Amino acid sequence: MLTWSKLFETNIESVDRQHRYLVDLINDLSTEVIAQLQYDNYDKIMSILTELKKYTIEHFRQEEQLMKDNMAKMDDETLAEFWPFFKDHKAQHADFIKKIEEIFDKDVDESQDDVSAELIGFLAEWLKNHIFKVDMQLRKYIK
Ligand SMILES: [Fe+2]
Repeated sequence: MLTWSKLFETNIESVDRQHRYLVDLINDLSTEVIAQLQYDNYDKIMSILTELKKYTIEHFRQEEQLMKDNMAKMDDETLAEFWPFFKDHKAQHADFIKKIEEIFDKDVDESQDDVSAELIGFLAEWLKNHIFKVDMQLRKYIK
């Protein structure tokens, strides 16, 4: 389980609100993955995963748009410094979406028990790391 704390906050209101919801979704998934040991909740798991995918794509789109809007206001020096960060940040987003899509490719039709606690652990770990190491740097640049 991911517990939200002040440490997750970038102080960019929209980003923090969306991160909170993503944390909620991953925690819901984790609850359901544990529950699947007792009863069949595959449809529930897939519906949360679908929401997670949809919301993540939209969240990344908005975060990238926010960066682009701010780039337009940067002086050349800041922009030169920001550009590699932006490129790498976008690449990380794309990787994560790919990872979520792989889950669907593998699980949608068969082998229900493949949605494992390990996978949810990976999603949670990824999000936590990304917020701490990457999104947190936005504070410096987004005014
Ligand atoms: Fe991000």
